[in-house]
Amino acid sequence: MSLRIDILTLFPEMFGSFLGTSIPKRAAEKGLVAYHLTSYRDFATDAHKSVDDKPFGGGPGMVMMCQTVFDAVAHAEKQDPRPTRRILLSPQGQRLEQSLVAELATTERLLLISGRYEGFDERIIDGLKPLEVSIGDYVLSGGELAAMVLIDAVVRLIPGVLGAADGPADESFADGLLEYPQYTQPREFAGMQVPDVLLSGNHKKIAEWRLEQRKLRTQQRRPDLWQAWVAKQSQESNQ
Ligand code: ADE
Repeated sequence: MSLRIDILTLFPEMFGSFLGTSIPKRAAEKGLVAYHLTSYRDFATDAHKSVDDKPFGGGPGMVMMCQTVFDAVAHAEKQDPRPTRRILLSPQGQRLEQSLVAELATTERLLLISGRYEGFDERIIDGLKPLEVSIGDYVLSGGELAAMVLIDAVVRLIPGVLGAADGPADESFADGLLEYPQYTQPREFAGMQVPDVLLSGNHKKIAEWRLEQRKLRTQQRRPDLWQAWVAKQSQESNQ
């Protein structure tokens, strides 16, 4: 069963090169995912094709209006009988993490609602009850880049998208540790050497060294992840 991803946006043209390149493209070519873009503008009813307006109460920027968003969602949802997982991209949302990405990769339909960063009329959120998702604590000019980040992270986890050789199983976050350092040819570059152990041919030693490097890196760079990993280890050894 393929995953259908509907993307609602003011700027469908932003998605062309992203969806037509590399892994997202390969996933669609293999029939494992299908992308459908919907422009809010197509659902505007006034002469100016308005989709946003000034906020009641004053303040900067423009706010996405209800009608065009509700109509665009209804249009996209009726294209396929399977129920959608509605996601609205917003800095107010739950932080996107690999655990949520993995869960979304098991669904059959995603509906991504992107819009201006200044926000959506709150009745859009009350009425559609989407899961609000943020890709980090910084403000983008709109949800489109966030939608692309989410799509990229989800699509590569769908079985069959990546080949066995570049599979995601032992990547960072899959098991809570960062990745080990990687090296390729040449063995010496500008006086810098590849660690001897990687040239030793001793697979057990290589695996030990890599695990050690992952732990060290996580400890040094991400104390939050390290603490969670240590807690998980001790929980598992108590079982
Ligand atoms: N829209 C604007 N900023 C965003 C962010 N950080 N995450 C998701 N959507 C956004």
